[in-house]
Amino acid sequence: NDQAPPTREQRVAGLKGLGCSRKRVEDARFTQGKGNYVDDVKLPGMIFGDFVRSPYAHARVKAIHTEEALKVPGVLAVLTAKDLEPLSLHWMPTLAGDKQMVLADGKVLFQGQEVAFVVATDRYAAADGIAAVEVEYEELPVLTDPFEALKSDVVLREDIADQTEGAHGARRHHNHIFLWEEGDEAATTQAIESAEVVAEEMVYYHRTHPCPLETCGCVASMDKVNGKLTVYGTFQAPHVVRTVASLLSGIEEHNIRVISPDIGGGFGNKVGVYPGYICSIVASIVTGKPVKWIENRMDNLMATAFARDYWMKGKISATRDGKITGLHCQVTADHGAFDACADPTKFPAGFFHICTGSYDIPVAYVGVDGVYTNKAPGGVAYRCSFRVTEAAYFIERMIEVLAIELGMDAAELRAKNFIRADQFPYTSALGWEYDSGDYHTAWDKALKAVDYEGLRREQAERVEAFKRGETRKLLGIGLTHFTEIVGAGPVKNCDILGMGMFDSCEIRVHPTGSAIARLGTISQGQGHATTFAQILASEIGIPADSITIEEGDTDTAPYGLGTYGSRSTPVAGAATAMAGRKIRAKAQMIAAYLLEVHDDDVEFDVDRFVVKGAPERFKTMAEIAYAAYNQAIPGVEPGLEAVSYYDPPNMTYPFGAYICVMEIDVDTGVHEIRQFYALDDCGTRINPMVIEGQVHGGLTEALAIAMGQEIAYDEIGNHKTATFMDFFIPTAWETPTYTTDHTETPSPHHPIGAKGVGESPNVGGVPAFSNAVHDAFRAFGLRQAHMPHDQWRVWKIAHDLGL
Ligand code: CDP
Repeated sequence: NDQAPPTREQRVAGLKGLGCSRKRVEDARFTQGKGNYVDDVKLPGMIFGDFVRSPYAHARVKAIHTEEALKVPGVLAVLTAKDLEPLSLHWMPTLAGDKQMVLADGKVLFQGQEVAFVVATDRYAAADGIAAVEVEYEELPVLTDPFEALKSDVVLREDIADQTEGAHGARRHHNHIFLWEEGDEAATTQAIESAEVVAEEMVYYHRTHPCPLETCGCVASMDKVNGKLTVYGTFQAPHVVRTVASLLSGIEEHNIRVISPDIGGGFGNKVGVYPGYICSIVASIVTGKPVKWIENRMDNLMATAFARDYWMKGKISATRDGKITGLHCQVTADHGAFDACADPTKFPAGFFHICTGSYDIPVAYVGVDGVYTNKAPGGVAYRCSFRVTEAAYFIERMIEVLAIELGMDAAELRAKNFIRADQFPYTSALGWEYDSGDYHTAWDKALKAVDYEGLRREQAERVEAFKRGETRKLLGIGLTHFTEIVGAGPVKNCDILGMGMFDSCEIRVHPTGSAIARLGTISQGQGHATTFAQILASEIGIPADSITIEEGDTDTAPYGLGTYGSRSTPVAGAATAMAGRKIRAKAQMIAAYLLEVHDDDVEFDVDRFVVKGAPERFKTMAEIAYAAYNQAIPGVEPGLEAVSYYDPPNMTYPFGAYICVMEIDVDTGVHEIRQFYALDDCGTRINPMVIEGQVHGGLTEALAIAMGQEIAYDEIGNHKTATFMDFFIPTAWETPTYTTDHTETPSPHHPIGAKGVGESPNVGGVPAFSNAVHDAFRAFGLRQAHMPHDQWRVWKIAHDLGL
């Protein structure tokens, strides 16, 4: 064979490891209709369940008549709270330490609430059965405003009306859930009261919804002969679902198999446990048949987890020349009918106290009041790490308002207050230890890339032209510098229902030199099958194309806490690298034996172990894998497998600088995004193409949220945005072109230096779009206008300013 051996560069490229824009391996099946989503699961004898839902936002349920429904051909059973009560399943625990009705128990608390579960031979019979169930309601006064709810005599949660203590401390009113505080309030108040300049504003981040393309659903199948329950479902945390199902049902955990098949987007919507899962499991146990439940779009928008709904009253103080001296924030958080927020147990407001953002603020205080209202429960992290998005929006609006108060350029104000590169690791006034960052470098790069000074000149000229009546279009420059906090754990302060937030990876290298790695996470479109193989390729020298990544089956995957809050890369990605290093350590012993040298005399080089100083003497990973199974090696067990359960020492703190340039027509409220520049720093970049895809997707969601998407109710709790006629989903038509860029500041504690990225564009995108709208009107006196900035609301801003 006269072929030259591959060069080192060719060997590196052949691995398709870290830093390679490897094409997404999962897309071949998705683009050819070979995906396997939960509604594709069809089991022999499978039947269907669906809900009778409440038309009222608050009503007493006087009676439920099921007789007529049971006469409908194909209807097999109708479950109500009474049927679930003997099993103690009519209520279920929420992730936030509250409890939630599985089926209406005496009253309903939001429109769309689950009242009865109709089980039938097919979906059509189930729908007919639902129509035939008669429910007698007595309407009760409705509370949709959290501020009103805290004053009202109307008791929403009668089940806990007398409890003055909740899961997160004292409740001061029957509709109050908790007050959660962080920081030094006295010192903050003192700093603000003695400051030269103070800006005060109410910033509202409206209620919205993650709205994944695929709605929630499951197929529950109880095999009574073998005593095994299998549940396929749209679960972002399959192991947690298995543990909860075991605790609730009494079925031993090894007899429950939870499978998350392909998932069509999650964005936090598929973290929680919903009544549909419980009812399907009960119905399968009762009937002995597999039961499928799939939400329709309205069910999804009306009843499953919402996001945001934070009223954030802020005060920020500074010296006259713009050095920030204090930040105070009081939040009124509308949690809906049940506190079903998906946060680590000790953090009822998630990581909202990252709200000092990218700035070196000496003293700060945050207080969050959770409140019950007649709205759907949830409070999930919609593509965000537990309320980080609210926090980023809050601080980035407060910075803009402070800039107005100071009469200062908002970019300059930011730069003046950034945490400097030499301050990392940096402990914030609210207690977080930021791992690494270089904000000034990123900021300067961003400003230069868009020709910030040129834009400001153009804007000033536009204002003059507008005043002269030569144009009706204003120019807004939306600035944002955000800092994220992703990768929950560590276990010492992050758990969900008592389960520590570590994650895991198990690797098996086969004799022929290929491998399979199983993780505790589950992709919902983020490309894990592609990128985790890349981490491993670089760690163990086996080409990514020869590594299969498997997630989502609790019978085979190691225990992990799942995928949300961009925790996959920081936690499971780290577990993958660590498990890979265990493989490599064993491979080193095998290589040394095969090369007849001491373990310390060989070193890893891309895809092989070489004898130090004698590069022609080596054993490739493929040779080592074969030997692991086929040769007796003294002192070394056969096989080449490893597992890692990784408890991260800290979270990772990705950051970014986003700039949105927007034209606004004051007569119509129509906007046009002329430019959107997004610089992200997520530490070591595993796959630049996947990152770019994540950024494009997240920015488009941010565009939707900032510019039109909302979950809205009328004064009697009717859901006004339960279809895509009213709930804005951007199409290619509304979506602008994005320019992406990056800096790379590795995380010092992550084995490969990677930070998460998936949610950054949602976190940073919303303030960038919103600040652009505000900035367009800054010259005319606008300080704060609530999102979403749809055309009517933007027109109203112009109208109210007399433009
Ligand atoms: O937890 P989730 O998968 O939603 O978010 P993530 O950890 O931010 O990862 C999203 C996708 O981007 C995954 O495929 C990651 O492997 C990839 N990624 C990357 O290529 N480089 C990074 N530094 C971070 C994420």
